[in-house]
Amino acid sequence: MKNLKHMLVTAIASLTLATASWAAPIEIKFSHVVAENTPKGQMALKFKELVEERLPGKVEVKVFPNSQLFGDNKVLEAMLLGDVQIAAPSLSKFDAYTKSLQIFDLPFLFDDMTAVEKFQQSPKGQELLGAIEKKGLVGLGYLHNGMKQISANKPIITPEDANGQKFRIQTSDVLAAQFEAVGAIPVKKPFSEVFTLLQTKAIDGQENTWSNMYSKKFFEVQSHITETNHGVLDYLVVTSKEFWMTLPEDIRPIIKKSLDEAILVGNRIAQKKADDDRQAIIDSGRSQVISISKEARLKWIAAMKPVWEQFSHEIGADMIGAAVEANN
Ligand code: SIN
Repeated sequence: MKNLKHMLVTAIASLTLATASWAAPIEIKFSHVVAENTPKGQMALKFKELVEERLPGKVEVKVFPNSQLFGDNKVLEAMLLGDVQIAAPSLSKFDAYTKSLQIFDLPFLFDDMTAVEKFQQSPKGQELLGAIEKKGLVGLGYLHNGMKQISANKPIITPEDANGQKFRIQTSDVLAAQFEAVGAIPVKKPFSEVFTLLQTKAIDGQENTWSNMYSKKFFEVQSHITETNHGVLDYLVVTSKEFWMTLPEDIRPIIKKSLDEAILVGNRIAQKKADDDRQAIIDSGRSQVISISKEARLKWIAAMKPVWEQFSHEIGADMIGAAVEANN
């Protein structure tokens, strides 16, 4: 009897072990909207490489670039439904989930990417990672793309030149107010539609980073790009609370470590990518890159800066103050 019991326990244990080793790997779908040769595209591939190297057979990462799985207007809804596990939407695309992250859209808030990095790593910047928690989302880290420039089919040198022009923007009320402040007409559209909207002249221009304008060929359908560096386009790497908290305890830290390292790789290449893609656009001769004088820049600042006041009650004056401090 004792023997039979022992045999049964051994058989159950072996069966459990066998089932565990046959268990399907945890699947992580990472959806994004840009090309693979961008900071986000490279970061996603690095994340896949590190996770699959460290957790072989246990976790499989499938990366879907170029809006192949979800466009940026759908990905967060899909995440809450469990249809995608990781994404890195631009900070401007969280408008419907929190007003706090709108700080990153305030025009002329950061002098450069060094200031952006400094603010993101500061206590206030880190506090913002939790801004979407109440909505069932977990902010895992910031990822850089770079500073934005304005493109159009005519030279846009002073704010008056933008008057009456239709500019595609991301889904952010701050970005809408920014263009309204110079008499332009903002049009909220998904990233995947921008090239066609420009090509068919349904819109006159748009704002974006060098790597996005180069990789998506916007420069081929816009005659001028003004180097305004008026705002930042960065990302929040995000997952759902439900997915994150149900990951096995021994797996979650390895995924987080891999993500942190992949973000560092993405951030390291972001500045070089911006410089290289800017040069590639100039070399193509398809679009003329315009630098603006100090005086013209001051005019843009004077026209757009009132937007800070308009949104400071939602964002918080103390947050804005901390961001300004990062420029020093
Ligand atoms: C992105 O970089 O993910 C897209 C930015 C945009 O929608 O312009």
